[in-house]
Amino acid sequence: MDSALTRWVSAKARVIRGITRRRLCIGPTTELAIVRRFHQIYHDTGHRTWLNTYWLGVPTLKCPLDLWVYQEIIYGLRPDAIIECGTASGGSALYLASILDIVGNGEVITVDLLDAAGKPQHLRVKYLVGSSTSEDTVTSVARLVDGKRTVMVILDSDHHKDHVLNELRIYSRFVTKGSYLIVEDTVIGHPVMQGFGEGPMEAVAQFLGENGDFSVDRDREKFYLTFNPRGYLVRKK
Ligand SMILES: C[S@@+](CC[C@H](N)C(=O)[O-])C[C@H]1O[C@@H](n2cnc3c(N)ncnc32)[C@H](O)[C@@H]1O
Repeated sequence: MDSALTRWVSAKARVIRGITRRRLCIGPTTELAIVRRFHQIYHDTGHRTWLNTYWLGVPTLKCPLDLWVYQEIIYGLRPDAIIECGTASGGSALYLASILDIVGNGEVITVDLLDAAGKPQHLRVKYLVGSSTSEDTVTSVARLVDGKRTVMVILDSDHHKDHVLNELRIYSRFVTKGSYLIVEDTVIGHPVMQGFGEGPMEAVAQFLGENGDFSVDRDREKFYLTFNPRGYLVRKK
């Protein structure tokens, strides 16, 4: 954006924020409560929201606001490879491949325990079947990303803490400097699905305590509603 336009956008943003706060009479605490409440509603009506979301006709278990953030990250990084743990129907893999098509670079390597029928075929998508943490899978992934300049990783398979932590320890090594390690569904227990037990959020906390190469990029939570609070990790070194 040119600088005059940037100044205009910032001035507009300040005015809108002021008006909104005055009209709704809300401070940051109330704002957070509203976001959490909306989050709960969005999650608990999954049959009309996240279980009913499609990319080019393929079920995609994502929040569209996160998909927009993905698009911004991919445009910025132009990754050579995106590793995705957790394919399901292949909707998210197809979405990632579509954005890679637009930026003209990269491929998606997506892994799932199950080999779902009818997954979308795309030249930029490679499907691997197996557990994301098995030695065979990790060896195959390592071979596929060997020598790639920019690699990002998305963890969206089994959401229990032990599995996610294991994935974080294994897959963090593939993430190149400046790139992203995205942990999906850190929202589990925070605030949705209370009672699930320890999940992705707890795995991230432990991982960050043992690995100083990554930090949380909270700017990626700018749209308020995200399935991945504290889940956008960026590799600093
Ligand atoms: C939340 S879904 C993935 C959603 C998909 N990324 C999307 O956005 O449409 C989780 C998937 O992880 C798979 N899964 C569960 N445990 C796994 C494991 N140990 N390794 C690989 N995939 C696993 C499940 O079979 C399921 O398809």
